[in-house]
Amino acid sequence: MLKSSVHFSLVFKKMGYRVRNTLVRLKRSFIIHIGYRVFSIFKILSDIELNILINTKTFQGDGIITSNFLPINYDPSLSESFDNTFDNLPEDQLRLKKIIWRAHIVTASAHFVSKIKGDFVELGVNWGILAHTISSQSKLLENRNFFLVDAFGLPGFSMKGQHKIHSYREDIYAEVKLRFEFEPRVKLIRGVIPQVLSLLPSKEIAFLLVDLNHGLPERQSLEYLWERIQPGGIVYFDDYGQDFPELRVEIDSFLQYKNEKLLIFPTGQAILIKQ
Ligand SMILES: C[S@@+](CC[C@H](N)C(=O)[O-])C[C@H]1O[C@@H](n2cnc3c(N)ncnc32)[C@H](O)[C@@H]1O
Repeated sequence: MLKSSVHFSLVFKKMGYRVRNTLVRLKRSFIIHIGYRVFSIFKILSDIELNILINTKTFQGDGIITSNFLPINYDPSLSESFDNTFDNLPEDQLRLKKIIWRAHIVTASAHFVSKIKGDFVELGVNWGILAHTISSQSKLLENRNFFLVDAFGLPGFSMKGQHKIHSYREDIYAEVKLRFEFEPRVKLIRGVIPQVLSLLPSKEIAFLLVDLNHGLPERQSLEYLWERIQPGGIVYFDDYGQDFPELRVEIDSFLQYKNEKLLIFPTGQAILIKQ
């Protein structure tokens, strides 16, 4: 009896050692794991310049978070015209206030081409947030017209699988026209792209904005209009770096044999200055 109880106590002791050793090992690897996590979080935070922790974030939206200087603070006319573009827009459009960097890119581009001959043309207008921001800075449209081309709710084109939120089937033509009633240089062309481009009177284009969220008609439009874009003229792609991989393939394959380079922005847009 005594012999077997000694034997059991030895077995328990051994088991106790094992359990303790395992716990010590687990504790050690847990500490290492936590340490690693803290380190990696620290690394991530330093990548974004610790802007969340020290709360110096200046902008969050359109795919970026930054503590950098905002263009809206650099250009008071941009901030005023961008604010005005949202006057009387439907509530759901107000979420697009986050596209301020795009407004900066297009108004700066419009300024860059001020000495280039030709019209401005936008393909894909919807409520005209970008077009309104440009046209309300009157000096950007001196001596040229600005053609806004869109179906404005007409059927006849497919956005299936290309745009996750909107189908753009609402007839907003009259309302968009009203938004530009005091801008005689802005003219709407309604129809399906690329077919409706035959109605575009511009022989020379200084600035082409492409915002169809759909690769195929964007590429077809580029093919149709390329010769009219003047050397030094700018093409702006609203969605090049956004979640539209098929669109990138179309644009890249169009540019493949052209001696052109894209400048791509972290907010997902791209521009090229035609050589
Ligand atoms: C993202 S919205 C344009 C937003 C606009 N650039 C702005 O500043 O608010 C895309 C527009 O492209 C138009 N669209 C897309 N594919 C089209 C096509 N094949 N023909 C005509 N319009 C098209 C839609 O009707 C929609 O209004």
